[in-house]
Amino acid sequence: MDRIRIVGGNELAGTIPISGAKNAALPLMIASLLTDDTLTLENVPHLADVEQLIRILGNHGVDYSVNGRRESQQKGYSRTINFSARNIVDTTAPYELVSKMRASFWVIGPLLARMGEAKVSLPGGCAIGTRPVDLFLEGLQVLGAELDVDNGYVLAKTRNGRLVGNRYVFPKVSVGATHVLMMAASLAKGETVLENAAREPEIVNLAECLIAMGAKIHGAGTSTITIQGVEALSGARVRVIPDRIETGTYAMAVAMTGGDVVLEGARPDLLQTALDVLVETGAEITPTNEGIRVKRNGAGIAPVDVTTAPFPAFPTDLQAQFMGLMTMAKGKSRITETIFENRFMHVQELARLGAHITLSGQTAIVDGVAKLKGAPVMATDLRASVSLVIAGLAAEGETTVNRVYHLDRGFERLEEKLSGCGAVIERISG
Ligand code: EPZ
Repeated sequence: MDRIRIVGGNELAGTIPISGAKNAALPLMIASLLTDDTLTLENVPHLADVEQLIRILGNHGVDYSVNGRRESQQKGYSRTINFSARNIVDTTAPYELVSKMRASFWVIGPLLARMGEAKVSLPGGCAIGTRPVDLFLEGLQVLGAELDVDNGYVLAKTRNGRLVGNRYVFPKVSVGATHVLMMAASLAKGETVLENAAREPEIVNLAECLIAMGAKIHGAGTSTITIQGVEALSGARVRVIPDRIETGTYAMAVAMTGGDVVLEGARPDLLQTALDVLVETGAEITPTNEGIRVKRNGAGIAPVDVTTAPFPAFPTDLQAQFMGLMTMAKGKSRITETIFENRFMHVQELARLGAHITLSGQTAIVDGVAKLKGAPVMATDLRASVSLVIAGLAAEGETTVNRVYHLDRGFERLEEKLSGCGAVIERISG
């Protein structure tokens, strides 16, 4: 299994290109199931999760081809990909595939809306929490789906071949369930109103895609989304937004090591709360024509308390990285996780680098230390792993991060981007 070796202590300086967002690319790819035309997606990041979803969609009959000479020749760079679901050959998403990536459960929405039926394995729990699918099921039922759960599978059918628009109030904000109901309602008969919908930028990106495909959607990015169903959707060409979590991750790395880095292609409006918090810690953040410039010189890191919550609040996907930064703050900070009940696995690993963190329920109290010291570490999810990379960059001596496959799920060319800015970081194979 590959490992990442880091020798910490260098400031970061230079430019880091920001990739297309994993969490926007995945639902856009799934939207290709809604039409028999070609959906062309630009700026699709080259990540293990994207490759896995290509396999899952392929199982349903989706063909794909990679466009563009420069992009396809340089392995590991964001690409333009055409998806064509002309013939859906199978409406079953099997356990072996869905269990590898939770977002693949989302195919239930478009399959049901276009084909009138779907059989999709329940995704099961995962490292960061139980993550149930009750909201998906309740919402689809409100749109007229008949559902049964049998042998670990959700069996879904429409009554007369088509879903029927309705009003659904999410009892809790869910990104995935908002994606799925927005896709399903696009092909339903009549109007659907989704209330207390997720407002994440990835929802807006999916709505833009569906609108380009001919859907009638208003209000994406607010908590009320209205969808007038249409009979069929066409192909379109859509660009994946820049990855706000990758942006925030590198911004936190610079805030921790010190230095001066331009995050090329980043959009500050996608992560304003996190950038404001970084300013409070003492980092200088400047929007530029190229993206976002992040600087921190000399003065120490100020402790800041954060609580994760749905967009536009501080994202749970940056919680671990921010905790990494706070381990070297001048004083105590409190980090409260409100989205996932088990998203503190990085705490024990950060402690191996010398961090002082105590847990009290859903709050971590971080008592900043003057320095961290390198050590071998590992993590059990993507964002936790990258928090260890950041901490390793600031720690004295050598840190080895094991289980690199977690990082490969969500960070495109991580070592190359960081070493391009002066970090000593390399992948060790085997
Ligand atoms: C998306 O997951 C992201 N994944 C996650 O990123 C992200 O952490 C999360 O949104 C929150 O922002 C993708 O976009 C692929 P939710 P999702 O439904 O949609 C509960 C990463 O590292 N819930 O908004 O699965 C759920 O358990 C990943 O890139 C129900 O109770 O998250 C959680 O507590 C990790 N019932 C809360 O809602 C449901 O039916 C929010 O989850 C659905 C969700």
